[in-house]
Amino acid sequence: MTQAIASAVVHDLIGIGFGPSNLALAIALEERGQVQGPLDVLFLDKQADYRWHGNTLVSQSELQISFLKDLVTLRNPTSPYSFVNYLKAHGRLVDFINLGTFYPCRMEFNDYLRWVASHFAAQSRYGEEVLAIEPVLHLQQVEALRVISRDSHGQHHVRTTRSVVVSAGGTPRIPTAFKALKDDSRVFHHSQYLASMAKQPRVSSQPMRIAIIGGGQSAAEAFIDLNDSYPSAHVDLILRGSALKPADDSPFVNEVFAPQFTDLVYQQNTAERERLINEYQSTNYSVVDIDLIERIYGIFYRQKVSGVARHVFRSLTSIENAVADGQGIKLALCNTASGELSEQHYDAVILATGYDRQLHRHLLAPLAEYLGDFEVDRDYRIVTDARCKASIYMQGFCQASHGLSDTLLSVLPIRAEEISASLYTHDKQHKQNSVAVERLLATAI
Ligand SMILES: Cc1cc2nc3c(=O)[nH]c(=O)nc-3n(C[C@H](O)[C@H](O)[C@H](O)COP(=O)(O)OP(=O)(O)OC[C@H]3O[C@@H](n4cnc5c(N)ncnc54)[C@H](O)[C@@H]3O)c2cc1C
Ligand SMILES: NC(=O)c1ccc[n+]([C@@H]2O[C@H](COP(=O)([O-])OP(=O)(O)OC[C@H]3O[C@@H](n4cnc5c(N)ncnc54)[C@H](OP(=O)(O)O)[C@@H]3O)[C@@H](O)[C@H]2O)c1
Repeated sequence: MTQAIASAVVHDLIGIGFGPSNLALAIALEERGQVQGPLDVLFLDKQADYRWHGNTLVSQSELQISFLKDLVTLRNPTSPYSFVNYLKAHGRLVDFINLGTFYPCRMEFNDYLRWVASHFAAQSRYGEEVLAIEPVLHLQQVEALRVISRDSHGQHHVRTTRSVVVSAGGTPRIPTAFKALKDDSRVFHHSQYLASMAKQPRVSSQPMRIAIIGGGQSAAEAFIDLNDSYPSAHVDLILRGSALKPADDSPFVNEVFAPQFTDLVYQQNTAERERLINEYQSTNYSVVDIDLIERIYGIFYRQKVSGVARHVFRSLTSIENAVADGQGIKLALCNTASGELSEQHYDAVILATGYDRQLHRHLLAPLAEYLGDFEVDRDYRIVTDARCKASIYMQGFCQASHGLSDTLLSVLPIRAEEISASLYTHDKQHKQNSVAVERLLATAI
């Protein structure tokens, strides 16, 4: 391995990931910095350039939240980084108003996020995957954190910071039955949908047999895209549940995504937090927008009328096994109502099986002895033992304590403000109490 490139700068904050969560934080810190003085902040993202779930941006995909829940408006509607200002800057404000919608297509929201990210180019590095966050020790105390990353050329980088905010998003969930096929390009998670579909070989006049596993929004969007954009695709939609169920976005229920609801959830004991999160699962997980459900139902109904069964809806179906053989990917299916077993062959399998949220545990493993079980304070700062003077914040890994908004766009501007306020307080205390970090670094690098 070539020697790592080590920087002598001690940052105030390094953000892991530069998705919407850290973009909102970058804005909140810029605003606060104008009043309280700037912090030295750097954001690292493993993507080559800014994209918001880039391989899922199919043409029919719409934002599942009002555009007013952009990166700033809930906190500061006069911010130049609002979605409305983006529209104005791109000459589309009037046209957007004429659309009469609160739900822009995700391609446009992606463009909005890219536009905001471009304003923070000096504070961001792309193409760098953070591998680990380690302690910088002085007299048995964690005075700072060492962030180890690897760039697209395989070069390692080492940076030092007084605090980190881990906002690295979800990790594709791969069901056990498919683990052995992880290197087979015919089996891929929905997060890779566009790139992986582009690589699938197509034999003209031959139908493509495709299985989609899952019954959530991702599965539904993949189904519509395959139906509309791939005339040769014959799709089996395979789900464990008995039906595609609608996402509940009715107004009273939607109040669970209000900033005040974060306080309500946080104030409860663990059992009650869990109950609240379970009660409102159907706002977000394993559910589909009602418009999309109606479109899919219409597609299957028209098949019945025409008698041409292009797609198959396989509900109450579990995957018992998946293997590659001469005819493609063979799935062993079980109808969970009747117990009936069957086998089907597919040219490609799309795993629309959701996301896990465990990456923080992996990145912060070198700090495990200071962290306990990743309990977080109301300000999203991990509760550490007294030896750890550095601050570690998380966004997107706090659903269990802060509620369902945590993995979504719902409260981004407010959360960013809460973290930035906490950061300024802790950074000031930490700098006053510790003159050692810079000196320590001179010897540590
Ligand atoms: C297809 C899809 C559509 C969605 N649509 C909506 C919606 O309409 N409304 C809504 O409220 N929510 C939606 N969500 C939920 C989504 O989690 C949030 O919209 C939002 O993306 C959360 O932002 P984030 O910054 O926390 O995470 P992410 O957007 O996932 O960003 C994380 C970033 O971290 C980077 N990263 C990951 N690991 C590393 C590493 N080790 N080193 C460096 N960088 C790393 C990634 O490249 C990525 O850019 C959607 C989710 C998906 C999957
Ligand atoms: N347009 C948009 O804005 C858009 C588009 C896509 C996604 N999203 C968002 O992204 C998030 C994730 O949505 P998602 O659809 O990717 O995931 P999801 O809602 O978590 O749904 C995952 C699906 O996969 C199934 N599944 C999980 N493990 C399985 C296994 N081992 N075997 C078989 N099936 C399995 C689940 O089945 P069970 O129900 O049986 O558990 C569920 O139907 C949500 O917040 C969603 O709103 C938004």
